[in-house]
Amino acid sequence: MPDTKRLFFALWPPAAVQEAIAECAVSAGIRGKRVARERLHLTLAFLGDVDATVPDDLCAAADAIEAEAFDLVLSRLGHFYRASVAWVGPEATPGALADLAGQVRGAAGDAGVPVRSRRFRPHVTLARRAGRPSDWMLDAPIHWPVRDFSLTESVQIDGRAVYRDLARWSLTPV
Ligand code: 2AM
Repeated sequence: MPDTKRLFFALWPPAAVQEAIAECAVSAGIRGKRVARERLHLTLAFLGDVDATVPDDLCAAADAIEAEAFDLVLSRLGHFYRASVAWVGPEATPGALADLAGQVRGAAGDAGVPVRSRRFRPHVTLARRAGRPSDWMLDAPIHWPVRDFSLTESVQIDGRAVYRDLARWSLTPV
């Protein structure tokens, strides 16, 4: 069996923001299989299963990324019907987030891992096997100071995906 790793670039909220996101799922009455607080994240680019030698190349490519820190406001709930996923995200994609996601995808391409060109739809998954939220706007938007991004590995342990950071990069303070 080839030695592969399942990778994605992601933003991981600080603990207090993860807490606020988890609470919003409760107060919005999101049903389904809720994502545990410490697993809440925003995927910048999903790379899938790649050869185990690729992370070194990805890290070298990502080292060249120059992107600015920014503040993200999570204000709206959403639902991916086909995936039965309920999520929270920004009302519009901030330019700095779109820029970072674009650079990350570019870095992945440079490392020989082209990201399928699906539209980037920034979201934090709140629950799987979930129905539609009853409201679409949060009563209290969540402010997330985004200061870094990560290359994260998803490892299957006892049939469950465990996430671990392989590398983390700071964004340029503004
Ligand atoms: P999402 O579930 O929050 O939408 C790790 O699997 C992360 O990569 C997940 O949080 C998932 O984001 C994202 N991802 C995007 N496309 C995926 C795919 N085809 N298979 C698995 N995960 C995917």
